[in-house]
Amino acid sequence: GIPKFVKIVEVGPRDGLQNEKTIVLTSVKVELIRRLVSSGLPVVEATSFVSPKWVPQLADAKDVMKAVCDIEDARLPVLTPNLKGFEAAVAAGAKEVAVFASASESFSKSNINCSIEESLVRYRSVCLAAKEHSIPVRGYVSCVVGCPVEGAIPPSKVAYVAKELYNMGCFEISLGDTIGVGTPGTVVPMLEAVMAVVPAEKLAVHFHDTYGQSLSNILISLQFYGVIDLLQVEIDHSIYVILYQQMGISTVDSSVAGLGGCPYAQGASGNVATEDVVYMLNGLGVKTNIDLAKLMLAGDFISDHLGRQSGSKTAVARCRE
Ligand code: HMG
Ligand code: MG
Repeated sequence: GIPKFVKIVEVGPRDGLQNEKTIVLTSVKVELIRRLVSSGLPVVEATSFVSPKWVPQLADAKDVMKAVCDIEDARLPVLTPNLKGFEAAVAAGAKEVAVFASASESFSKSNINCSIEESLVRYRSVCLAAKEHSIPVRGYVSCVVGCPVEGAIPPSKVAYVAKELYNMGCFEISLGDTIGVGTPGTVVPMLEAVMAVVPAEKLAVHFHDTYGQSLSNILISLQFYGVIDLLQVEIDHSIYVILYQQMGISTVDSSVAGLGGCPYAQGASGNVATEDVVYMLNGLGVKTNIDLAKLMLAGDFISDHLGRQSGSKTAVARCRE
């Protein structure tokens, strides 16, 4: 079984651009977001309200947000690492935010300069403030299968962080293979552990394509039937035992033209390309409501601006046709 509809969360303008050395004009970022939204993407992560010293590329977060916050056809979440970022995001017009924790202690230190526990304390205060503004908060867990410093990460650690984010009120937890080292062989045990503590419909998968494993990892996440549970129900004084299997995941993060990487994860390549995910889902008959042709034009637009070939195989194949 596979879900009939998959929600794609486009992260190109944030996860994609954050790693670009040459500063992209604010107007180009805004036009990219507009084009992505008009291709039918329901969620486009617009930017990050992080320290400009840490991520210079996104120092224009306020201007980007102000220019796009009137767009109504899609949700435009932004990353907020702390209350300072949250307040700046709300002031600029953000209606949805995301916090980002890690399952690796070393990555937490290098990415957000604090321990996992310290980050969870910060994120609890962001969630409380967001609740007062009725702003939904998404939670990321990074390094869900591997970390550049620590190597393999135990699934139990991922489940712990995911559950903490879920408990503090995150409406969705995105499981990030930040450095793209996972295969279905390591992704499945990780999903098993997480799905035992957070319902599958609250989970998203976020793969980077460093080893070319993203599409296989996405497919296995969609198909995955997690924990088998026994449900006891009483009907007319008889006890029935129902075998119940958890559904697979139906939210997938991806980045147009395969933009991306992570400034604090050496060697991490781009996110899986949105065009390639849509191509695969179209082939499977899974609905996304995304117009692939329009999406590819958005990909051409940003690839032209960055002066290089798209990281999407679908885009490269189609332009040869
Ligand atoms: P810090 O240096 O520990 O912060 O950074 P601090 O609280 O000590 O403050 C230092 C300075 O930063 C101060 O300014 C603060 O005002 C300022 P100064 O007095 O020196 O002029 N500051 C801020 N400025 C703007 N916006 C803010 C903010 N907060 C403090 N929100 C901090 C801690 C978390 C801020 C920093 O480490 C940071 O910004 N990190 C973000 C790194 C990042 O964006 N990484 C990439 C995203 S995560 C990712 O890509 C993974 C993901 O895609 C999933 C996956 O692939 O697995 C999500
Ligand atoms: Mg990422």
